[in-house]
Amino acid sequence: MSAEASSAGERLQKFLARAGVASRRHCEELIAEGRVQVNGAVIRIAGSRVHPQRDRVQVDGVRVRTEAPVTVMLHKPGGYITAVSDPEGRPVVVSLLPRTGLPRLFPVGRLDWDTEGLLLLTNDGELANFLTHPRHGVPKVYHAKVKGRPSPEALRRLVRGVVSDGERLSASGVEVLRTTRENTWVSVHVLEGRNRQVRRMCEAVGHPVMKLLRVSLGPLALGQLSRGQWRRLLPSEVAALEALKGKTGAERP
Ligand code: URA
Repeated sequence: MSAEASSAGERLQKFLARAGVASRRHCEELIAEGRVQVNGAVIRIAGSRVHPQRDRVQVDGVRVRTEAPVTVMLHKPGGYITAVSDPEGRPVVVSLLPRTGLPRLFPVGRLDWDTEGLLLLTNDGELANFLTHPRHGVPKVYHAKVKGRPSPEALRRLVRGVVSDGERLSASGVEVLRTTRENTWVSVHVLEGRNRQVRRMCEAVGHPVMKLLRVSLGPLALGQLSRGQWRRLLPSEVAALEALKGKTGAERP
């Protein structure tokens, strides 16, 4: 049965996005441009259905494969780069996962070398695109130990927005968690995910970050997961992510 004749299966653009080729919308463009083949035939109709196990899908002649989606949460320790490999031989986060029993996973977004906390790793390209795209504004909460005692005005500036390297950065919320003799722990909520955003914002208001921990991402919380440990997402967490995607319209066919 040809991919187009079949009514079951999965929509071609969804399959391609899930395989990490590009966003679903961009995959529709690839299809319209005639760059996608199913079982050797060019398919130009987005919405054509494929059976991932049975059909051979190619983009620009390169085979595209998917596996069952798997997403894990890792409590990233400091001293690891958020990557699958590093040409300079530095420790990478995927080395904290077992070599067997999991498909090949890649990190969702990026935490800096010395940032700790909640990091997702997945083989679901569509989920990764959704969670990292600034347009979706998926909320992230960080606990930052900053130097000194930020004044209420400094905290308000974080929310009003600061300019760093010509880029406007802001927090959607900030609160003081506790103070020590020389430092202050603050909770910083952000909707974008710009490069080193929290560090740059705090630096801009005169309170450099000494330690940074991500405690939540969308509906997911780091909870009691110990540093360096990982776990698969619970079905309820996967459902919460799907619901979030639905809310922003990312699930539109
Ligand atoms: N903001 C930062 O400054 N660093 C991170 O790793 C994440 C958010």
